[in-house]
Amino acid sequence: MASPLVVDHAARSEQGSEWWRSAVIYQIYPRSFSDSSGDGIGDLPGVTERLDDLRRLGVDAIWLSPFMRSPQKDAGYDVADYCDVDPLFGTLADFDDMLAAAHARGIRVIVDLVPNHSSDQHVWFQEALAAAPGSAERARYMFREGKGAHGELPPNNWESVFGGPAWTRVIEADGRPGQWYLHLFDSSQPDFDWSNPVVWEEFRRVLRFWLDRGVDGFRVDVAHGLMKEDGLPDYTPDPDAGSMGGDAASVPYWGQPEVHAVYRDWRKVLAEYDGDRALCAEAWLPTIEKTALWVRHDEMHQAFNFEYLETEWDAAKLRAVIQESLRAYSAVGAPSTWVLSNHDVVRHASRLALTAENPQGHGIGPHSPGQPIPEVGLRRARAATALMLALPGSAYLYQGEELGLPEAIDIPDEARQDPTWFRTDGERYGRDGCRVPLPWVADAPAFGFSPSGASWLPQPAEWASHARDVQEADDASTLRLYQHLLAVRAGERLGEESVALEWLDWGVDVVALRRGERLFVAANLGTEPFALPVEGSVRIVASSAPVDGVSVESDTTVWFVID
Ligand code: NOJ
Repeated sequence: MASPLVVDHAARSEQGSEWWRSAVIYQIYPRSFSDSSGDGIGDLPGVTERLDDLRRLGVDAIWLSPFMRSPQKDAGYDVADYCDVDPLFGTLADFDDMLAAAHARGIRVIVDLVPNHSSDQHVWFQEALAAAPGSAERARYMFREGKGAHGELPPNNWESVFGGPAWTRVIEADGRPGQWYLHLFDSSQPDFDWSNPVVWEEFRRVLRFWLDRGVDGFRVDVAHGLMKEDGLPDYTPDPDAGSMGGDAASVPYWGQPEVHAVYRDWRKVLAEYDGDRALCAEAWLPTIEKTALWVRHDEMHQAFNFEYLETEWDAAKLRAVIQESLRAYSAVGAPSTWVLSNHDVVRHASRLALTAENPQGHGIGPHSPGQPIPEVGLRRARAATALMLALPGSAYLYQGEELGLPEAIDIPDEARQDPTWFRTDGERYGRDGCRVPLPWVADAPAFGFSPSGASWLPQPAEWASHARDVQEADDASTLRLYQHLLAVRAGERLGEESVALEWLDWGVDVVALRRGERLFVAANLGTEPFALPVEGSVRIVASSAPVDGVSVESDTTVWFVID
């Protein structure tokens, strides 16, 4: 095969239908990406200004975490108006400009949709508070009478994902404590009642609003949470499980079978458009087999592969999770997705070097056990990404991982903002450490994140060495590695399932495979160097750390061909 190992980006944007099957999708967390206004919080014009950097990186699409109107109690995942831009981030016109500029560069745009709950500032919730128990206004949320002689106890024992009870009692019009409302997350995030058709109608309207503007799809927040089991039975979660899912076979608020009807409905709404818009489920479920149910042919197009993200740095476990992902998703006709970092988990450049258990959502801070060694973490992160980007399916990248950013561990207590930190009285650090604003320019205020030097979370001083301008100029940088891997991935069409994948048995500590006729991929997760068991002259195409073409050091992934 004599095709080039890299491809022209403009040609790639012509790929045509079902782009999401193999796309590399870059997550923008708007408040931490790039601030054009100088208020210390990133914004949409900031995104527009940086699109050429993303084009140079070589991504196919961006997904933006919420930028809709919100009091920002949960960094925008508490939406007060689903069809407007929060002034913090700009205006609808700024959104349209950003969308047009992305499309002009062949980059598709996915927006976040938060259907499980709204903000308590949403007009519906304000109307519900003003209305009486039993009213149509209350029926759009989950209001219930309390238990106990005077209704003074919550309706059941459910806990909020962020810690503390999942119920809050309201004061009724007569000034007395009255009903309780359910909030699986913060008390400022009341859950909608998805057994009410009015809620369905409203979200069809929201979908069409953004589809009409031209978005390419939606990432659906807490997609496994919308339906609750009838009767709302008590449930006590496993304390060691991650907050968003849990290992229990049946949780009365996650993964209820009725939820699939919602996504079948939405798929029909998307089909009213040009047929190439996509839905991606954020569904934390106990097995890949279960997650695959979210992407049957008439439901969502993709679901995040959190099993893969949560797999430890172990060759046998990685092989198993990749094989199971490819099997389970292809059994329902969907592509697998791959993801290593996002705004809810410890960045993989730190997570892969943790030496103590760290359940998802708990975060790490200065007093956490098992602190990561930065060099080990970065080396593993580069190797993990090089393996991930060789796999068929769609890959999600989280802003800053292309700079090899570690988790920010030493955030002062008074600067922390995640509701998890407050709701657990500081027992869990939460997710601020993966949300610190990006360093763009080493020698600039706030490392180029904001013209005023403001930054809503403090940036570690050592991030100067991670700044994008420094890395653009350094052949050995993590940024240059990502750019190169993405270019080869595109040139060799590695995201496409039609390019064969053959597993190679090169030892217990090595994840080895061949893509297509000629590209070999080997990740050495062992502690000893590993000699490449091939004949002929090896030509290294990419490697996560320096290699000599004969052996591969520990925690290194290499892509090569044999000439
Ligand atoms: C999942 C989001 O990714 C997370 O950031 C948010 O706090 C919860 N859903 C609640 O919306």
